[in-house]
Amino acid sequence: MTIGVFDSGLGGLTVLLKIREKIPNLSVIYLGDNDNAPYGTRSPQEIYDMTCKGIQVLFDRGCKLVIIACNTASAVALRKIQEEWVPPDRRVLGVFVPLIEKITEREWGDNSPPRKVAVKNIALFATPSTVTSRAFERELGFRAIGVKVESQPCDGLVDAIEMGDLYLADKLIDTYANGLLERLPDPEVVVLGCTHYPLVKNLFTKYLGNQTKILDHPDIVCESLKDYISRHPDKIGDQNKSYFLTSGDPKNIEGKALQLSGIKVSFNSII
Ligand code: DGL
Repeated sequence: MTIGVFDSGLGGLTVLLKIREKIPNLSVIYLGDNDNAPYGTRSPQEIYDMTCKGIQVLFDRGCKLVIIACNTASAVALRKIQEEWVPPDRRVLGVFVPLIEKITEREWGDNSPPRKVAVKNIALFATPSTVTSRAFERELGFRAIGVKVESQPCDGLVDAIEMGDLYLADKLIDTYANGLLERLPDPEVVVLGCTHYPLVKNLFTKYLGNQTKILDHPDIVCESLKDYISRHPDKIGDQNKSYFLTSGDPKNIEGKALQLSGIKVSFNSII
């Protein structure tokens, strides 16, 4: 059983690790577009083009289902990809909607009108492109009413993580967390709206406090994926081998993957 997982770089590994833990019999072909990361400050057209190119590599390797484990690509490009680009026999899913369904207490595919939910305010940390797209607010507005979202663009944080510069990541998160807490002092839920951020979740906890409820994607996406696979077994490719691809320098990426996520894997170049 194979699916594809795509990210602009290393952030998707947070989703991959959860898939390994929760759906161990599922093989995954992972592609990190490290050469073009970060996507978070690129134009919508660039993000769309790069995401389609990456997904095509995974389709060409036999994947029928690809998870875009990147909020930026999910927020900026997924809707257009689903509407205009994906061939009818393939499927592309993002990481945004499962998280919003969780917050708004919805089952997958529940398209009933928006309603009041328990949560009243949310703090969102995400890349500048994700924040500018307002996709989080849009998808939330389809499902819930009366929820305030305070967003914090975290310029430079993905670069720091991709470089393995945890000192810089610490300083940036200090600034961003405090900036957000000034505007929303007591958030009910904090969303780490970038799959890179769980790699430094301890730093968010350090500056937001232990008592803050921090939601990130990996667990929630895996639950949703498990459910999807059980309903669409035809979307699972028939290979039985997991492997890792990158548009960057494989040796360099292997070292950073090990440093940040603790996984020791071999990356191969897509070129
Ligand atoms: N992991 C991607 C996300 O979830 C990072 C985006 C980027 O490359 O800036 O948004």
